[in-house]
Amino acid sequence: MIRKTLLGIAVAGLCSIACAQNTNRVFEPPVMGWSSWNTYRVNINDTLIMRQADAMIEKGLKNAGYRYINVDDGFFGGRDEKGIMQPHPTRFPRGMKVVSDHIHSLGLKAGIYSDAGSNTCGSIWDKDMNGVGAGMYGHERQDATLYFNDWNFDFIKIDYCGAGQELNLEEEKRYTEIRQAIDQVGAGHVSINICRWAFPGTWARKLARSWRISPDIAPNWKSVKYIIGKNLYLSAYAGEGHYNDMDMLEIGRGLAPNEEEVHFGMWCILASPLLIGCDLTTISEASLNLLKNEELIALNQDPLGLQAYVVQHEGEGYVLVKDIEKRRGAVRAVALYNPSDTLCSFSVPMQLLELAGNVKLRDLVQRKNLKPLKDGVLEYTLNPRSVLILRAEGEQRIEPVRYEAEWAYLPCFNDLGKSPKTAAYTPIQGASGGMGISHIGGSMENHALWSVYSEKGGKYMMNIHYIGKPYSQLEINMNNDKTICFDQLETETGKHASLTCYINLQPGFNSLRMGSSYCWAPNIDCFTLLPVTDPKTAPDISTEKSKAVN
Ligand code: GLA
Repeated sequence: MIRKTLLGIAVAGLCSIACAQNTNRVFEPPVMGWSSWNTYRVNINDTLIMRQADAMIEKGLKNAGYRYINVDDGFFGGRDEKGIMQPHPTRFPRGMKVVSDHIHSLGLKAGIYSDAGSNTCGSIWDKDMNGVGAGMYGHERQDATLYFNDWNFDFIKIDYCGAGQELNLEEEKRYTEIRQAIDQVGAGHVSINICRWAFPGTWARKLARSWRISPDIAPNWKSVKYIIGKNLYLSAYAGEGHYNDMDMLEIGRGLAPNEEEVHFGMWCILASPLLIGCDLTTISEASLNLLKNEELIALNQDPLGLQAYVVQHEGEGYVLVKDIEKRRGAVRAVALYNPSDTLCSFSVPMQLLELAGNVKLRDLVQRKNLKPLKDGVLEYTLNPRSVLILRAEGEQRIEPVRYEAEWAYLPCFNDLGKSPKTAAYTPIQGASGGMGISHIGGSMENHALWSVYSEKGGKYMMNIHYIGKPYSQLEINMNNDKTICFDQLETETGKHASLTCYINLQPGFNSLRMGSSYCWAPNIDCFTLLPVTDPKTAPDISTEKSKAVN
């Protein structure tokens, strides 16, 4: 059955994905700087913050691109009778403006912290009673005026302890109110970080430059590995100056050298904000050199502002890739990541990276060229807990053939754990890369979107690999054109099946949507797109009888 265009549904994400990818526009890169929390928790003061700002210059970190000095929790000193927040009387006796002035005098930017509720996290977890009533709840405009207009801060991290566990507020509504107050006092330029400790939902990019995707980091390998795992399948939400925040860096705080390399390298290729969390005055040379690695920094700050995605996950290893320098050019960044405690062998066909011809390789962690690749397969064995991060430059860029379901943009996805029945990235046994997407369908909005690419455009055969489910249905829509609907799908729960259809692609990027307006759609593993060489032999898209082929 072929349906007319899906009821004129305005799929905002669909256009923004395709439109943005057709250009080489420059977006604001992830924030780089230092934050007080990891080392000092609430035990901060003006001298300490100013000394760290000085160290940022002395250690050459400003020259390397680090800009922000962020005061985290601990500066609050209670509200006066008019409700105006006071700086902590003994930690910041000279006030906060002195601190931001000093930071600005060094050519740096200043960041501050608050909570979306009444009480700060520090008041709950660190027993800092000055944080009681210090959050923005009921003081949105007043605090925004103070922090940005009077105290002159350029960045704010807005936490959720008081708003969540205490007031049980709804995240999107609450952060929207705060964002509006910030705009109303003329501080729309401020860089906002949403700190809700899990991917909050696609609304976050309308309100903030970055959003935390995980619980707090700790200075140990388990925590670093866990947070990387949390961000492996969120690349669809980063871009255009908005980023998934993997939390502040624990480099210089006791990790082994190889663990520090994985930590920094993965934060860079996954386009996370880079906020150093150690004491800059005592940092070791090795950790400092890693933080100043200009090639990894360039990768993080790449003008395309993209986050790498997983193209291969076999055994324990992950291969991630992203465009750098030029959209759809012949240069890409690649990570071979071994999170395991044993050796891990990788075998990566260049085709998977969409590169052809001789491929020049540069190791960005070691800053050295590797042997160029001639036989088309990248083979490496990596030590436990290690990463190889490469700049790969091929002779040609080729069209992708296989698209993983887990690359999709899911407009209804969030990781808050409140609505388990909406679209999610899910481990699926037997799926390529062991991952897929589940719980799409049931409504127009709850769909999946991919940006698919064709050099010349034309007719393609699409083969979709999915997982059987009773009463499921799959609607497929390309570029908001006619919807193809498959009703006769595999009904045996969990059985892997595939279906074939023919679609037309425009030259360049195309928006592909899958879902089901009324029923559940099946879980999706991946799909392939192959150009039809002789269009006459392929069934016509408008007359084809859609049916599943198992
Ligand atoms: C939360 C945040 C941390 C830090 C503390 C401050 O735990 O996630 O990054 O800001 O609050 O209390």
